[in-house]
Amino acid sequence: MGNGIAQVAARAGYNVIMRDVKEEFLQRGMSAIDKSLQRDVDKERLGAEEKSAITARIKSTTNLDALSEASFVIEAVTEDLEVKTALLKSLDQITRPETILASNTSSISITRLGAATQRPDRVVGMHFMNPVPVMKLVEVIRGIATSNETYDKVRQLTEKLGKTALECNDSPGFVSNRVLMPMINEAIFTLHEGVATRESIDGIMKLGMNHPMGPLALADFIGLDVCLAILHVLYDGFGDSKYRACPLLQRYVDAGWLGKKTGRGFYEY
Ligand code: 3HC
Repeated sequence: MGNGIAQVAARAGYNVIMRDVKEEFLQRGMSAIDKSLQRDVDKERLGAEEKSAITARIKSTTNLDALSEASFVIEAVTEDLEVKTALLKSLDQITRPETILASNTSSISITRLGAATQRPDRVVGMHFMNPVPVMKLVEVIRGIATSNETYDKVRQLTEKLGKTALECNDSPGFVSNRVLMPMINEAIFTLHEGVATRESIDGIMKLGMNHPMGPLALADFIGLDVCLAILHVLYDGFGDSKYRACPLLQRYVDAGWLGKKTGRGFYEY
C-alpha cells in the first residue's frame, strides 16, 4: 500500500520520500506507480508530462535517515506490532518534534503505537483502503492521546489527497476491519463446510449484495496473511470466540497461499 500512498501524495503536489528496506522493493513500488498512472494517461485523464512530474516528485531510498526532513510521515510496514513499534521509535528519534507520525495499520492499536514514542499526541491512524489510488476512504483513528490539532491536520491532508476522512476511536479492527473481516471469515467457513463453491459464494455476494468483489476474491486481493493477522487482533482484543479464524484460512497461510501476491489463494492468478 505504501506505493499507492506515495502516488496519491505526489499527485496532490507533495514531494515524497518513499523509503523501503531493499532496493528491489522500491523498484517494484515505482513500477506499480508507473503502471497505475499509465492507466490514467491511456484514458486521457492525465497528461504524459504531468505523469513525469508526479514520478519526479517521488524520491526513493533505503536510508531511514532521509526522513529527517519530512514534515509528515505515513508508515505502511508489515502488520506486526513489534516491527511497527521499532520503526516508530526510530522515526521519533530521526524526525523533527513537530512531525506527525501516521500509521496505515489495519488493526493495531494506535494508542500502543503512540506509547512507543515521546509524542503520542502526534501519532494517529491513517488507514487507506486498497487499491489506494481508487478508494476514497481514509479511516482516521485517534489513539487515546492523539490531539485535536493532529486530527485536524490529518483531516486537511486527507482532503488535499482527494479522499474523505472518517473518524473513529481506537478499538480492535477500528470500524472497517471489525465489520469486514467477520464477513470474509464467514465466507471462508461456508467454503470450508462445503456449503457452496467459491464461485457461488462470491457470486451470491456480488450479485445479491452489489459488492464489487466477492469476499473470497477480496480476501485474496487483501492478502490472506493480512486477513489472518487482523482476525487474531480482533480475537485477542475482544476475547470473543466469534472472531476465531477459520481453520481453512490458517491452512492456506501455512501453505504460503497468500492470495494474489503469491499467485494462489482461494483462486489461482
Ligand atoms: N491504480 C489505479 N487505478 C486503478 C487501480 C490501480 N491499482 N485498480 C483499478 N483501478 C481503476 C481502473 O482504472 C478503473 O477506473 P475507471 O472505471 O475510472 O476507468 C476502476 O479502477 C475500476 O477498475 P477495473 O475496471 O479494472 O476493475 P473493477 O471494476 O473490477 O474494479 C476494484 C477494481 C476497484 C478493485 C473493485 O473491484 C473494488 O472496488 N473492489 C473492492 C475493493 C475493496 O473492497 N477494497 C477495500 C479492501 S479492505 C482494505 O483495503 C483495508 C485493509 O486494512 C485490509
